[in-house]
Amino acid sequence: MKGRGQESFVSLPRFAARLYNALTHTQAIERQHREIARDLVARLARGRLLDIGTGPGRLLSLVHELNPELELFGLDISEAMVHLARKNLAGLNVNLQRGDIRSSGFPDDFFEMVTCTGSFYLWDGSEECLEEIFRILKRGHSAYLFETYQDFDESAVQKALKANLQQESLVRRLVTPRLLMSQLRMTYRTNEISDIIKRTAFADSYTLDPTSLGGPPAWLRIRSTKPAARA
Ligand SMILES: C[S@@+](CC[C@H](N)C(=O)[O-])C[C@H]1O[C@@H](n2cnc3c(N)ncnc32)[C@H](O)[C@@H]1O
Repeated sequence: MKGRGQESFVSLPRFAARLYNALTHTQAIERQHREIARDLVARLARGRLLDIGTGPGRLLSLVHELNPELELFGLDISEAMVHLARKNLAGLNVNLQRGDIRSSGFPDDFFEMVTCTGSFYLWDGSEECLEEIFRILKRGHSAYLFETYQDFDESAVQKALKANLQQESLVRRLVTPRLLMSQLRMTYRTNEISDIIKRTAFADSYTLDPTSLGGPPAWLRIRSTKPAARA
């Protein structure tokens, strides 16, 4: 059966991970990661935070810069991405592991926060992955998944992209919109995301907020909370 895309990352060669790193190292993406990092740090002062599909590890680096007290973990299905993140985060106390969020191996009730940026749309077995996030989250805590969605406003996104990329090199101005558009074509529609979550333990405790944190208005913040235990 055809997967959602994670397979292409499992076998990603190291040079391709380095290329991804170079192409996505734009001011606009840096701004977006920084705003997401601020959003997360404003909600969590201490404890363990997991970034799923951490890729080159940029979000973790910015979170660390804003709050070095947080205990940071990165998980990625791609050996090449984990290798790259280890290089990018050298010297920082970050726990990086290769693994699939469908079966992460972390203990129950372990994390105060779980996040990801642009990874959920690639996961095979998205419901099982959400169940796994529910299992590893502490009670009363939330996952914040930042994801693009397919039913975005194309003219608003094109306008924002043009403005965001003004300062970038010609190569990036040409490549970045194509990368984003191919990602957007693979992502879910908002109602599909809702339908997936409704089939999981997060069914009664989630919100979907459109956001344009630092970037084009094509992003959703999916907040899924593991309810606190009843007294
Ligand atoms: C588009 S990249 C985004 C990387 C990074 N979060 C960023 O914002 O630059 C998606 C990442 O998710 C990872 N990934 C895909 N499926 C995964 C899974 N099931 N479990 C863990 N990581 C996964 C890929 O290997 C890849 O590094």
